[in-house]
Amino acid sequence: MISNVQKEILRLKKEKNAVILAHAYQAKEIVEIADETGDSYALSVAATKYDCDAFIMCGVHFMAETVKMLSPDKRVFLANYNAGCPMAEQMDPQIISQIKEKEPDRTVVAYINTTAALKTVCDVCVTSATAVKICREIENKKLLFIPDCNLGSYVQKQLPDKDIKLLQGGCPVHAAVTLGDLKAVRERHPDALVLVHPECRPEVVEMADYVGSTTGIMKFARESEHKEFIIGTEISITEHLQYECPDKEFYNLSKKILCPNMKLTTLMDVYKTLQNLDNGKAFEIKMDDELISKAKVCIDEMIRLGG
Ligand code: 13P
Ligand code: SF4
Repeated sequence: MISNVQKEILRLKKEKNAVILAHAYQAKEIVEIADETGDSYALSVAATKYDCDAFIMCGVHFMAETVKMLSPDKRVFLANYNAGCPMAEQMDPQIISQIKEKEPDRTVVAYINTTAALKTVCDVCVTSATAVKICREIENKKLLFIPDCNLGSYVQKQLPDKDIKLLQGGCPVHAAVTLGDLKAVRERHPDALVLVHPECRPEVVEMADYVGSTTGIMKFARESEHKEFIIGTEISITEHLQYECPDKEFYNLSKKILCPNMKLTTLMDVYKTLQNLDNGKAFEIKMDDELISKAKVCIDEMIRLGG
C-alpha cells in the first residue's frame, strides 16, 4: 500500500528530475519508490543509463561515490549521510601502495566496497556478482585481493590456478555468522536450501547450496522449484523474498546479519533529500576531478571485464 509520504516522494522526484537508486538491503517502503533496486554491480551499471538532474542513493557512502564517478556531471546525493560501510574504510591506500612496491607483479583487485581514495591505488574493482568472472579474465595469475578475505578466499577456491594474496578484512556483519549458527538453523529446517553471500566465512560458504550476490540469491530463490530457503545475507532479503514469493518459506541464517548502516536510511530521509536538493541542506557527494579520474580507472575496468 502506497503511503502519503511515498506519493509525495514520487511527485517531488518527477518535479526535480531525480532518480532514486536503492540497494536491495533497503527497507520495503524505500524499494517501492526506487527507480532501480539491485546489488552493487547492478546499481553502478544502471546509474549510467539515466538522463536526470540528480541521483539519490539509498545505500551506503561508497555506492554514492561510485555513481558520482560514473556520472561526474550529475549531482549525486546520499539519502542518509551517516550511512557508511565499515569494510570500505578498513584499508589505508598507503599500506596498499607499500605492498605494491614489495610485490609489483601482483594485479590489485579491489572489492567495490572501498573508498575512492583506496581505488586510486588499485587496478580493477569487482563486486560479489562479478568477482570470480573478473579475476578469471585477468591475464595475470598473481593477484592481491582487498579488503574482503572471505570473498577473496571464495574466488581462490573457484580459481585454483590463481595465486591470490589476501589481507585480513571483510564485512563485520556477514562475518559474524558461524558454522554453529548454520547447523542450528539447518536442524530446524532440514529441507531448506542454504543460499549465502560470499562475504560469509569460508566454512559457512562451503556448506551452502548456492553462493551469490544479493541479486543472485534473490534470482535463485525466485526461480527455484524448491519451497524452503535459509537466507545467508542481510535479513531484509528474507523479507523481500517472502513478500515476492508467498507460497515459499524463507528463514534467516542468523539475526546477526543485520547491517546497521543499511538500516539507517528512512523514507523521510529520501523525502527530505528531495526537498532540500537545491538549498545545500542535502548530503551531496563532492569529489574533485583528479580523484574521480584516478579512482574511476578501476571501475571502468570492472565494467569492461564484467559486462
Ligand atoms: P552485493 O550488493 O554485491 O550483493 O553486496 C552486498 C553488500 O554487502 C553491499 O554492501
Ligand atoms: Fe558494508 Fe557489510 Fe553493511 Fe554491506 S552488509 S554495507 S559490506 S557492513
